[in-house]
Parts: sequence; structure tokens; C-alpha cells
Amino acid sequence: MYHKRCAVAEGGNGFQNWECAETAKGYSYLYIISSIDCLLLGRDERCYNPDVTIAYRWSAAAAYHAAQLESPKRSTVALGKFIRKYLDREPASVIDVGCGTGANLHWLRDCFGDARLVGLDINDVFCRDLEGIEFVQQENCAVSELGTFDVGLSIQCLSWLDAYERPIQAMFKSCRQWMFITSLFTDSRVDSINRVTQYDEDFRADSGSPYFYNVYSIERFRRFCLANGAKEIMAQDFEIDIDIPKPEHGLMGTYTVRAEDGRRLQISGPLFMPWKMVAVRI
Ligand SMILES: C[S@@+](CC[C@H](N)C(=O)[O-])C[C@H]1O[C@@H](n2cnc3c(N)ncnc32)[C@H](O)[C@@H]1O
Repeated sequence: MYHKRCAVAEGGNGFQNWECAETAKGYSYLYIISSIDCLLLGRDERCYNPDVTIAYRWSAAAAYHAAQLESPKRSTVALGKFIRKYLDREPASVIDVGCGTGANLHWLRDCFGDARLVGLDINDVFCRDLEGIEFVQQENCAVSELGTFDVGLSIQCLSWLDAYERPIQAMFKSCRQWMFITSLFTDSRVDSINRVTQYDEDFRADSGSPYFYNVYSIERFRRFCLANGAKEIMAQDFEIDIDIPKPEHGLMGTYTVRAEDGRRLQISGPLFMPWKMVAVRI
């Protein structure tokens, strides 16, 4: 395990989380996995333990990020192959905009040789002390203020923003050779701007809601990139190669169903998730 002493614990409320913090003595980080509550307990008297940093608080997000540190997502493995197909020389520097924990940079580092690896995220509560990866807590549009990078990554982020134009323009200012992007894209001439609210059993919205789950027209995105300095854009569907069962919690969370031709379709809550990997040559 490359991540320094990380614990993942279950806890449904503040008290349980406090217990988790106690049992996690000796760990640098503790991921709290609670049912749905958004409890910010990082410096709460009841749970504060000087040996433990409460890294994150919301169940699905915490589980999602913690799991990525254990093993790469199938989409990250596929993205690695996709990047290798196009990257024609070793980059000197790579920035991952909206990097989360930095797990993608970690698992993809073989694609980039000895490049300087920088992760940018607006959120500083995810664990991020990964060897050889610099972390910058910053808003995505500020990437253009960090200097230039040979390669820019945007992995599973654009669909969760209200729009992609400003962050992508900022990446064009910062990235010299390539951008590799994954997001929800459709071949239809449609942008679908989706706002998702998740509820607990009593239909109280969770405090992170509503979330965007936008699906963008790939052709409109392609034209936008060309208008902003891209030389070429290559897109490929990501088809997941494992079955994922439907989660029982009734909230958002990816699962797969088989299409008639045998392909696995990814569904999350009520939404179809048409992932694409996009290579943008600059
Ligand atoms: C769906 S997560 C994806 C994280 C990571 N790229 C992955 O593949 O696991 C979206 C990430 O974008 C970050 N984010 C959202 N809005 C942002 C913004 N305006 N600027 C920078 N990061 C942002 C979030 O904190 C979160 O880590």
C-alpha cells in the first residue's frame, strides 16, 4: 500500500464516527463511510484525535475515493491504454485538473515516464500524500495561472460542472501538447444538463445535492476544442469489462446491464452513463 496508513471505517452518525476515530489510532487518515449524512467532523471535539485526520465525510464519495487508492478503476486502466495509443513522446509535466485523491495520476504514472506530476482539486479533504505527486488546492479555471504543462488530464469531472467551456479554455492556456479527457458524452446533437438530488429514507436531500450529471454532445465539444486551438480530437467509447451489481441503497451508484449485443451499459440511479475517452492534440 503506497498510501501512508489509511483506514476506512463505517459509521452512520457522529457518535459512531467518533468511535471510528478512536479505533483508528495510529492511522494518519480515516475515511468515514456513513449512510448518507454529510457530517463535517474533522475538528469536532467529540471525534478529534490528534493522530487521525478525518479525511472525508460523505459516504459514497468517501468510498469512491478510498477504493481508488486500493486498486485502479477499470476506466483508469482503459484510459492508460488510450493515452499510450496517442502519446508520442515522454512529457516533461502532467497536470490532472480535478484530481480527487490523485489516484488516477498514481495509476497512470507509467504512461508518463519521469514527468513532473501535479494534481489540482478545489477540495482539500481528500487524502493526497502520494509519493511523487504535487497537490495544488485550486479552482479548475486557475490552472492557467500555474504555468504550462505538456499534458493535461480531466478525468470524470466535466459532467459534474455546470458547463465545460471556462475550465477547458483554461486548460488550453496551460497545456502544450495533449489533453486527455473522460466524461459523459453523446453522439446525439444534444447537451443534457441533469441535476440530481439524493434523498435519505425520509426524503431529506443530502447536503451535497443537487449534483450535475451532464451529458454533452461530443460533436459540439469537438468543435469547441478546435475553435480553441486543438489540432485534432479523437474520441472512443469506454466499455466496461466487468459486471457491477445494482447497489441496494437506492442512490446514485454505477451498475451494469447487458445490451442485446452483449455490451455492458453503465447505469447510475435513473441515468445512462455514456462514458467516452477523448484525446485532444494541441
Ligand atoms: C467526480 S470527481 C472525479 C475525481 C477524479 N478525477 C476521479 O476520477 O476520481 C470530481 C472532482 O472534481 C473536483 N472539482 C469539482 N469542481 C471543481 C472545481 N471548480 N475546480 C477544481 N476541482 C473541482 C471535485 O472536488 C472532485 O474531486
